[in-house]
Amino acid sequence: MINLVLFGPPGSGKGTQAAKLVEKYNLLHISTGDLFRYEMGNNTPLGQEAKSYIEKGELVPDEVTIGMLRNKVDANPDVEGYIFDGFPRTVPQAEALDRLLETKEQTVSKLVMLDVQDDELVSRLLNRGKTSGRADDNDESIIRNRIEVYKSETSPVFDFYNTQGKAAKIDGIGSIEEIFGRICAEIDHL
Ligand code: C5P
Ligand code: MG
Repeated sequence: MINLVLFGPPGSGKGTQAAKLVEKYNLLHISTGDLFRYEMGNNTPLGQEAKSYIEKGELVPDEVTIGMLRNKVDANPDVEGYIFDGFPRTVPQAEALDRLLETKEQTVSKLVMLDVQDDELVSRLLNRGKTSGRADDNDESIIRNRIEVYKSETSPVFDFYNTQGKAAKIDGIGSIEEIFGRICAEIDHL
């Protein structure tokens, strides 16, 4: 199995690349952000809880996110691997993911980080906001908060996997195909 963590700040291209990787490697794409938006769209209790955090660009508490992720993984056991997109966002989430995979005699194969500088992220997200329908893509101060939260709470996840020799940082600037080629090179080296 290939269990890939697709990592990087908001707007770095994780979702775009995940869609292409799914086709090439036949993996299940799990985007925790998409799962939250689905719950919000259906106005479920989970969606209502997540909404107050997401609309500020803050992180939903770990136990909520971890429980949702675990349910999604457990509901899809017969796959060739997973692409985790937008998860783990904190070191406790990374530890929980390791424990979850351990119960299935699996591990994270690799974390690939898409490296993109802040101003490019802001411009990509504002542009995406024109069509995404996401309130958190339509306000520059929320976007900047999401980037700050990434730096303070999420970036330590890179080091968590780097000390296990599993993290790779690639240039997230270029055409979609170029970046896809860089990610595939990392996977094919596994
Ligand atoms: O990954 P994405 O950018 O779609 O996530 C949107 C929002 O969902 C984040 O800004 C955050 O509020 C919330 N989220 C979270 N924890 C995660 C993934 C997403 O709190 N692991
Ligand atoms: Mg995304």
